[in-house]
Amino acid sequence: MKPEFSTSRLSSSFRATDEFPVQILCGDVRQKLKEIPDSTFHTCVTSPPYWGMRDYDHTGQIGAEDTLPEYVENLVECFREVRRVLRHDGTLWLNIGNTYTSGGRAWRAADSKNKGRAMSYRPATPVGLKPKDLIGVAWIVAMALQSDGWYLRSDIIWHKPNCQPESVKDRVTVSHEYLFMFSRNENYFFDQEAIKETRADGLGRKNRRSVWTINTEPFKDAHFAVFPRTLVRPCILAGSPVNGFVLDPFFGSGTVGVVAIETGRNCVGVEAKPEYVEIARNRIAGSAPSLFTAYP
Ligand SMILES: C[S@@+](CC[C@H](N)C(=O)[O-])C[C@H]1O[C@@H](n2cnc3c(N)ncnc32)[C@H](O)[C@@H]1O
Repeated sequence: MKPEFSTSRLSSSFRATDEFPVQILCGDVRQKLKEIPDSTFHTCVTSPPYWGMRDYDHTGQIGAEDTLPEYVENLVECFREVRRVLRHDGTLWLNIGNTYTSGGRAWRAADSKNKGRAMSYRPATPVGLKPKDLIGVAWIVAMALQSDGWYLRSDIIWHKPNCQPESVKDRVTVSHEYLFMFSRNENYFFDQEAIKETRADGLGRKNRRSVWTINTEPFKDAHFAVFPRTLVRPCILAGSPVNGFVLDPFFGSGTVGVVAIETGRNCVGVEAKPEYVEIARNRIAGSAPSLFTAYP
């Protein structure tokens, strides 16, 4: 079956065909999404930078804002544009974790196991919070998106049995993140059957539950958090039909593109950092060499 839209509807810098099911647009998400026509995608699956957690070392990077309200406003702006390029029956699956205040520290060193921990900046403690406070940023973002018009439909807990150990002595170790499911409208495409789980007694299948236990997946080329394919797969299966169109506006190493190919969907990724575009290009080309293109 052919994809539902043809290249003739799209600007010259953006194409998605069954010959080239994965494309990467390199640049700032706020500019690049503007090149895409309204109502293009069935679903968006993405993991934006968390506030103050990583230094992606490029101008315009989201996540490095001085204040929490600026970060939230930037994400709301990005996802408003995502809503425009989603079909009217489209969904957004947003993976985001909570963070703690930095306790007044201005930078963070790399460690040998996790080079991506290095930070040349640390945001100040948000007004109204104290050092050591859990910021609750995941829910702050979810509420802001809801206020901006999204329908917040599910808060899925991604439980990570192999989470990073923490050296803390006065609280429990964080072993979960959130996966929020939003819809553009009240009624939307959701293939419930495609993601049903096996019943405990093994006799048949039941509706998928809201806690997903999934190990993190290491990826040697990227010094930042790559989300596991097994987290992405149910989102794509439930959120789009075979041959449908999937968007990841914070593409990183291209996990959503890999899963799109594995599940027979088309995908567009936006990524600001050319080095990461190269990593994603090689990763995707490695999984399906004849099925890939990228635009500078
Ligand atoms: C958490 S990572 C995404 C990782 C991805 N899910 C994966 O599995 O590889 C967030 C990505 O957003 C990118 N990014 C940050 N600010 C951006 C912006 N303004 N426009 C486009 N991409 C941006 C970063 O460079 C980084 O690659």
